[in-house]
Amino acid sequence: MHTGTAASPQHWWRDAVIYQVYVRSFLDSTGDGIGDLAGVRAGLPYLKKLGVDGIWLSPFYPSPHHDHGYDVADYCGVDPVFGDLAEFDHLVADAHRLGLKILIDIVPNHCSSEHPWFRAALEDGPRSAARARFHFADGRGAHGELPPNNWRAMFGGPAWSRVTEADGEPGQWYLHLFTPEQPDLNWREPAVGDSFDEVLRFWLDRGVDGFRIDVAAGLFKHPSLPDSPDPEADERARDSVNPLAWNQPEVHQVWRDWRAVCEEYTARDGLDRLLVGEVSVPTPREHAEYVRPDELHQAFFFDLLSAQWDVDAFRKAISEALTDIAGTGSTVTWVLNNHDQVRTVTRYAGESTEVGTARARAAALLMLALPGAAYVYQGEELGLPEVDDLPDEVLTDPIFRRTGSRLRIRDGCRVPLPWSGQASPFGFTAAGSAARPWLPQPEWFAQHATDRALTDTRSFWHLYRDGLALRRSLPQLGEGTLRWLETEPAQVLAFVRGDGLVCAVNFGLGSVPAPAAGAPLLASGDCPPGILPASTAAWWISDPAATPDTPKTPGNPANPANSTDSTNSADSSKGITS
Ligand code: NOJ
Repeated sequence: MHTGTAASPQHWWRDAVIYQVYVRSFLDSTGDGIGDLAGVRAGLPYLKKLGVDGIWLSPFYPSPHHDHGYDVADYCGVDPVFGDLAEFDHLVADAHRLGLKILIDIVPNHCSSEHPWFRAALEDGPRSAARARFHFADGRGAHGELPPNNWRAMFGGPAWSRVTEADGEPGQWYLHLFTPEQPDLNWREPAVGDSFDEVLRFWLDRGVDGFRIDVAAGLFKHPSLPDSPDPEADERARDSVNPLAWNQPEVHQVWRDWRAVCEEYTARDGLDRLLVGEVSVPTPREHAEYVRPDELHQAFFFDLLSAQWDVDAFRKAISEALTDIAGTGSTVTWVLNNHDQVRTVTRYAGESTEVGTARARAAALLMLALPGAAYVYQGEELGLPEVDDLPDEVLTDPIFRRTGSRLRIRDGCRVPLPWSGQASPFGFTAAGSAARPWLPQPEWFAQHATDRALTDTRSFWHLYRDGLALRRSLPQLGEGTLRWLETEPAQVLAFVRGDGLVCAVNFGLGSVPAPAAGAPLLASGDCPPGILPASTAAWWISDPAATPDTPKTPGNPANPANSTDSTNSADSSKGITS
């Protein structure tokens, strides 16, 4: 995060690096085998040392946890398993004392079937005001025995469930684009928007710096809920493809309203707030519409995350993202990992975990060199591979159950972090506690434990730490221009940032001549001058005069680079040559 100059302060979020904390797997302070807010609090100095600008907390609200908190039963509380509001307030205060921003996850597309809104809807019966908050509809068929339309749920099965009415008879159906325990809210009902306005203010008043918005292209559905032309495709994609259920034009007004709430708080105290959306839409043009100047500040850009380890796929994803963002006033929000995806080390592994590790290190250095903001998912900085051999009986992801045990996707990246020692619970939970970590940690987690990573200067952790420190101290990084370099062989992706920081990644299988002279400033693996080995990324300053002469310490006030204004992201398109 560059802070700009006094005359031209930069919005902190534009090039911030945010660390995603999946609370239940970060650090357990109570010995029940589940991470909690006090654990996050205890981990803050570690994150400060790593050099991130802030954290995003996955949902910690009261919830029956059918989808690990993305089924919210009370938007203004803390689930006792994670702590309480007082603990949350301490966490915010500690984070701010350390100069870390706090983003929380907000889930406006659906709530829990245990939320009082949904309970009232069940009790009050058809055509009641309480049902108007959801999508209740009579079924089709002679006796209403068929769902109101053919939509499929994202996690498998139909998107409708039928309720039993007060008279004990089967009655209306309700819509749920995820699990039946996550009824979709009806945003055409004004009471829904009013409630979320209160929720935003509740957390802003407690000091949060912003929100990560779940399913931000959802919320509104086609008003007449017609059949989908291709329901199988909707289900297969596990993404927002049903054009009748997602990306409706009305959703943009919600983001304008939320932006206005943020601006209202900023007008009071001068502090920027951030809305970052999980926006999955078919085209870059539609993606850009969500980050117009009066809508969301940022939206995750998932194409890099979905790209195979392939030079053309990476180049295309990056070029399209930069083109898409130009003119919106926003910056690209890069992601390589999150709690829904197989970890990069495993995704890129090909023939071996060693190869996957080298590639994941290279991808990390690439991401940190790109213009815009970046999100790092917990454990990414430890180079954790996916735990891909969890036994069926411990899996908790509803996708596994709802696809008839076909898809094992999201548990393996959620295994509790290893902090220290040689055996589970690896310091995640106090040694000697009766409870085991909520997902079993494999023995090989010992190689990735934080205590080991901190002392081994060749660890993933040091790569991230050094990359983040340079990113903070070098004016070429963060926002600014990106110019592609023509390189031979074609397996190399190389670009110049600003006035001379070269970043190159070798996607090939053999060493190639480096595209810049001298020893690199930082490399993801061994990288002798003049050579860029396979599966390696490196940064060079092409003009030695531009090398910072002070230690590359995050926030070092002695470093003139810290007060250098960054170029506005709209300029980044000017620098692109393809
Ligand atoms: C996206 C979240 O990242 C995921 O974990 C969750 O299951 C769905 N939205 C539904 O809320």
